Amino acid sequence: MNRFVLNETSYHGAGAINSIPEEIKGRGFKKVLVASDPDLVKFGVTKKVTDVLDNAGIEYTLYSDIKPNPTIQNVQHGVEVFKESGADCIVAIGGGSSMDTAKAVGIIINNPEFADVRSLEGVAPTKNKAVPIIAVPTTAGTAAEVTINYVITDVEKNRKMVCVDVHDIPVVAVVDPDMMSTMPKGLTAATGMDALTHAIEGYITKGAWALSDMFHLKAIEIISKSLRGAVDNTPEGREGMALGQYVAGMGFSNVGLGIVHSMAHPLGALYDTPHGVANAIILPTVMEYNAPATGDKYKYIAAAMGVEGTENMTVDEYRKAAVDAVKKLSKDVGIPADLKEIVKPEDVPFLAQSAYDDACRPGNPRDTSVEEIAELYKSLM
Ligand SMILES: NC(=O)c1ccc[n+]([C@@H]2O[C@H](COP(=O)([O-])OP(=O)(O)OC[C@H]3O[C@@H](n4cnc5c(N)ncnc54)[C@H](O)[C@@H]3O)[C@@H](O)[C@H]2O)c1
Ligand SMILES: [Fe+2]
Repeated sequence: MNRFVLNETSYHGAGAINSIPEEIKGRGFKKVLVASDPDLVKFGVTKKVTDVLDNAGIEYTLYSDIKPNPTIQNVQHGVEVFKESGADCIVAIGGGSSMDTAKAVGIIINNPEFADVRSLEGVAPTKNKAVPIIAVPTTAGTAAEVTINYVITDVEKNRKMVCVDVHDIPVVAVVDPDMMSTMPKGLTAATGMDALTHAIEGYITKGAWALSDMFHLKAIEIISKSLRGAVDNTPEGREGMALGQYVAGMGFSNVGLGIVHSMAHPLGALYDTPHGVANAIILPTVMEYNAPATGDKYKYIAAAMGVEGTENMTVDEYRKAAVDAVKKLSKDVGIPADLKEIVKPEDVPFLAQSAYDDACRPGNPRDTSVEEIAELYKSLM
């Protein structure tokens, strides 16, 4: 048996944010907690949506104490603000950090026995659905608007906790490429490579099946076609990435990921490395490591990335072609090739253990060990 969980409703395309008031009013919500981050407030990105709320006469309280790689403290503060505000729904405006914080806040409000946040790591046995969330992504990467996951950093333990819970999925996703057009090149590249990593890891993960394959292969194709354009801020590139990352989210949220994410999470926790940058650097190396456990799947990855003649290639040839296509895209959008500037050699044992303990690791197509993960880190240094 396989299970599939998706948003109740999603909106796509330029101007999609104008659908938000009707959703709020139609669902009978009276007051909104807007969850966003300080930079988005500063650069006027949050305002694009709050202007829509203002024009529709919808009351809201703004909560913007959310840092990239959000912390337990960000969540607990958000819970307090939600309670004081008298809100009955959340509009999350931002990247994975804002949307994930909103999910954790929404879960704790309706499941107060998890107020410590730490007890939510892994598959959390919550009983109640989160406060209804309308999620408006401003990056094209995490797809947190359609996933059943959120990631919160435990600063004391230097640990990123992946929390998996069907109760956290936003009821409505509003995927508007105009919300993403202010992203600088580096952020566009990093978040876009996160989306590609979701699509590739989701396609080869142990739990993959026909329905998730359909989403992941299409996502690989759209992202490969669109990311370079998005980095150059073309409307077609932005539109493509908005859709491609969402389609990847529809897939991976339901089947899991692998050790690219497991190895990226400790880098976010220990060095605050942007999530997409960490994934992008690690992805080709882990693809090579995983290749023996992927059957003929790299043939379809290579073809989806635009490689011609895959039908006539040997197994070794199409596996190499898939990895090379990923390396080329990563290089073209300016991602560093290794972890030399990021990882301190003395941290490798901690990183490897932390990656092994990560919730994404069991989904990896090839069974692994702490020692092998340590070797993978070292090969990138
Ligand atoms: N929930 C999931 O399924 C899931 C999946 C993958 C990653 N994540 C998590 O999401 C987080 C990363 O999220 P992210 O990569 O979207 O970035 P982010 O939310 O951390 O944002 C990074 C920075 O980019 C800025 N920014 C965002 N949108 C912008 C825009 N349109 N214009 C200008 N600046 C903008 C933000 O202000 C912030 O400073 C990590 O914590 C990661 O672990 C969650
Ligand atoms: Fe990710």
